[in-house]
Amino acid sequence: MDIESWEEFREIDRALASFIDGIDEKNQVKKVVSHVCNAGGKKIRPVMLLLSAQLCGVGIRKCLDAGLAIELIHSASLIHDDLLDMGTMRRGIETANKKFGIGAAMLAGDFLISKSIELLSPYDKDVIAEFGRAGMQMAEGEVLDIEDMEGKPSSEEQYFDCIRKKTASLFAASTAMGAYVGKAEKETVSELRKYGEKVGIAYQIVDDLLEYTKKLEDKHSVHSSASLVEIYIGRAEPEKAQNMVEVRVRKEIGEARQILNMFEDSATRDKLLRITEYATYGMFP
Ligand code: FPP
Ligand code: MG
Repeated sequence: MDIESWEEFREIDRALASFIDGIDEKNQVKKVVSHVCNAGGKKIRPVMLLLSAQLCGVGIRKCLDAGLAIELIHSASLIHDDLLDMGTMRRGIETANKKFGIGAAMLAGDFLISKSIELLSPYDKDVIAEFGRAGMQMAEGEVLDIEDMEGKPSSEEQYFDCIRKKTASLFAASTAMGAYVGKAEKETVSELRKYGEKVGIAYQIVDDLLEYTKKLEDKHSVHSSASLVEIYIGRAEPEKAQNMVEVRVRKEIGEARQILNMFEDSATRDKLLRITEYATYGMFP
């Protein structure tokens, strides 16, 4: 799928480039931020925010800063995750900690989080609160992840609790924030939040599965937490375990699609359906 040709992707890409351009050359953080943000991320979350807002009747202009804030906090979380996992490679290039050192990487993450707060400051309280809560959940989920690493594999319940918080919370916040910007009814916000969460859960299961089967050659970390397939291997043959994982992914995607199908047929809904595929099945090489 050619998401890079979508207007939503291009607008986020442009906004990101202009943010980096605007950082003072004398600011030492610039090279770290530029290294991380120019690594060619898929920008799934901000595109989902823009599409959710459009689904609720609002144009890109009004939600672009919120989308950029999501992309920046996502980048910050990956920088901090690589610090914790002692990651050396991400998106096919050296991680910030490997290239610039632990301190510079940590501070670049802090810089990005702070910028995202500035970007969100003109928005309504609901938008900002949703974002803040997602950040807290991500941190909580990452703590669970670190705890799990010590004695992996963890239980299925612990696994889902962890990925719902560390990963799905930001997907859920993206779609809910889009709905809030579109001044949607409470029920609509809640449905779109649920949709985002399901995509986020499926995304992380697939990401973990690919890492387990070593199909992700553009990533390398010293530490990695238990994947769902490893948990299932405790109860079934490896092939059956992999199958069980795929069934679970299909379930989340099916439910996500069902939520979207409650909305009227439109080009925007079609894009959300396509990005649901792209973020999950589409990651298989
Ligand atoms: C990647 O997981 C990491 C996350 C999805 C979340 C990371 C969150 C934090 C470090 C908390 C920081 C919070 C804020 C608000 C900045 P992974 O290690 O399983 O995936 P990977 O293979 O991509 O590294
Ligand atoms: Mg990691």
